[in-house]
Amino acid sequence: MRHFIDFEDMSTAEWNSLYSLASDIMAHPRDYVDALRGRVMASLFFEPSTRTNFSFQTAMLKLGGGVFGFADANTSSVSKGECLKDTITMCSSYADVITMRTPVEGMVKAASLYSACPVINAGDGGHLHPTQTLTDLTTITERRGSLENMNVGLCGDLKNGRTVHSLIRALSRFEGVSFFLISPRELAVPEYITKFLGEKGIRFVETTNLEATIPQLDVLYMTRVQRERFSDPAEYERLKGVYVLNAQKMKLAKREMMVLHPLPRVDEIALDVDPDPRACYFHQAECGLYVRMALLLTLASKEKARPEQSLPETRPHRCKNPRCITRTEAYLPVLDEDGVCGYCDSKLV
Ligand code: NCD
Repeated sequence: MRHFIDFEDMSTAEWNSLYSLASDIMAHPRDYVDALRGRVMASLFFEPSTRTNFSFQTAMLKLGGGVFGFADANTSSVSKGECLKDTITMCSSYADVITMRTPVEGMVKAASLYSACPVINAGDGGHLHPTQTLTDLTTITERRGSLENMNVGLCGDLKNGRTVHSLIRALSRFEGVSFFLISPRELAVPEYITKFLGEKGIRFVETTNLEATIPQLDVLYMTRVQRERFSDPAEYERLKGVYVLNAQKMKLAKREMMVLHPLPRVDEIALDVDPDPRACYFHQAECGLYVRMALLLTLASKEKARPEQSLPETRPHRCKNPRCITRTEAYLPVLDEDGVCGYCDSKLV
């Protein structure tokens, strides 16, 4: 593993060692205070973030490393029209690892093609959010001891929720996981996800009914309706608040069911759920710190290597997703495979 763009970049053996490392850091944080002394992380956040940004920065500082970057793209030369290739070539000559969050789908993958140091995807548009997945897997493993044999319900905005897309693909590697995809029809998971599950023969059901599904679940992953991804505000107003988990509905759930949420919550989990021992979302955010420390330790200590420069691509990109990086950075190499865009995973029509 050189970059971490998608959970697919990590083998199951690599995940197991990362989890062990995160557990060790959690148990003995003092042993790691100088582990990345002299190393620097570039934090390029083109989109708002609280937990992911703060936990990555805290992780680097707790390992003895340093951090530079921005949390507002208007303070960088990108706002002057600098292309991604130039920003990354330059930043990766300063930093030992880059973390990037962006509304543009496939942008972090594109950045990795030009970076001399490892690049980590901290969320790209509605596409993927693999370090949130590491956080989710760490929380479940710690509580249940395993990622196998469980019924996982994902509820809310499954269309635009990137945490959901990364988590489904990651959990599908483990034996005996069944998915209950709970959403209004307008916010159902993208087709590439259901196609992926179908091809792997993984059991999944799509439903609109949270109450009827709760009793079967071992894990319930709640998500907010992603207002910033809606082009029509009236559509958001119509769909927000469609699912609210509250103490009353928790009575229908198993005694051991875990409630996860990547946070921030808006109103999809009522405050009366917080005291319930099954509410794991704040502990989940804490697990994110330790597993990001483990990831930085694994990647930021690697030797830097400047990637070979290829000539600009002359073939046009075919991706029609308006949020795909290929719509604005035309020089990127064409990475289409099996009728799917190699940057944002959208189906090519
Ligand atoms: C998520 C994200 O940014 O995708 N938040 C996070 O990273 N913890 C979920 C969200 O914004 O709803």
